[in-house]
Amino acid sequence: MDYRGKNKEAWEEAYDNRRQDYDKDLVARLNEEEFPYLDPELLFEMKKYEFRGKTCAQFCSNNGRELLNLSKLGLEKGIGFDIAANMVKAANSFADELALPCSFIETDILEIGEEHYDSFDYGLVTIGALTWFKDLHPFFRKVSSCLKENGVLFIHEMHPFCGMLAVRGEENFDEDEPDRIRNSYFKDEPWVDDSGMNYMTGKEYSSKTFTSFQHTLGSIINAMSDSGLHAVRLKEYERDIAGGMFSSLEDKGFPLSYVLVAFKSPGK
Ligand SMILES: C[S@@+](CC[C@H](N)C(=O)[O-])C[C@H]1O[C@@H](n2cnc3c(N)ncnc32)[C@H](O)[C@@H]1O
Repeated sequence: MDYRGKNKEAWEEAYDNRRQDYDKDLVARLNEEEFPYLDPELLFEMKKYEFRGKTCAQFCSNNGRELLNLSKLGLEKGIGFDIAANMVKAANSFADELALPCSFIETDILEIGEEHYDSFDYGLVTIGALTWFKDLHPFFRKVSSCLKENGVLFIHEMHPFCGMLAVRGEENFDEDEPDRIRNSYFKDEPWVDDSGMNYMTGKEYSSKTFTSFQHTLGSIINAMSDSGLHAVRLKEYERDIAGGMFSSLEDKGFPLSYVLVAFKSPGK
């Protein structure tokens, strides 16, 4: 089994072990609050576009909370793609319960079927998605194939700078120096982790193995551009969107997150 198959098993195990409050209130929050699951920086860029009557795909959609939330902007149809069967099942049942026009499909992003090509006005990639792909070229080729001509892709991710830092739980993390550079920005070797997915489970456990990868901002933009996705906006923020992993470094001049907007060029 390759690293993506193993990641599937590790993610499914993590979701089976999710902390009690991980998505217990999801339906209530989406009913009662306007945008509980979309960060203001991302919304600010998205609201410049018309979503009413449009279609949107999310790549690595987890339990669906972000796409379900986005559909409140008036989407005609949203489809979320994720490799974890149990999350996809939960996401579909949340969509049914909320009567929102979204559905979720269990698939490796690299294996999304041709029936979804040229189907979406918008694409969405959010925090913690890009890192699961060793090479971003096939990932962005798939994203690009799914978008219609002139379709718009929004990415809201952890800034690659964060990969240079150690985080709590890692051997080289020092509580007194969380801003100490520990890794090369150009780190090639993967992160291999079998201590569980803490943000989802709220605990450390001996887990199945997660393998993830560092990507520089240049490698992200170049892989997009090679796939016909041309960046028109890149905004960098001092805000931690990684579940508090870098919260002590917020507003101290470190780039912690970014929003990137790109268009699919005609003929691609
Ligand atoms: C951190 S979540 C990102 C989504 C969203 N920002 C969130 O936090 O809910 C990462 C997701 O990527 C999915 N994933 C990992 N590898 C994948 C792959 N090769 N194809 C599709 N989904 C994948 C996992 O199942 C998980 O739901």
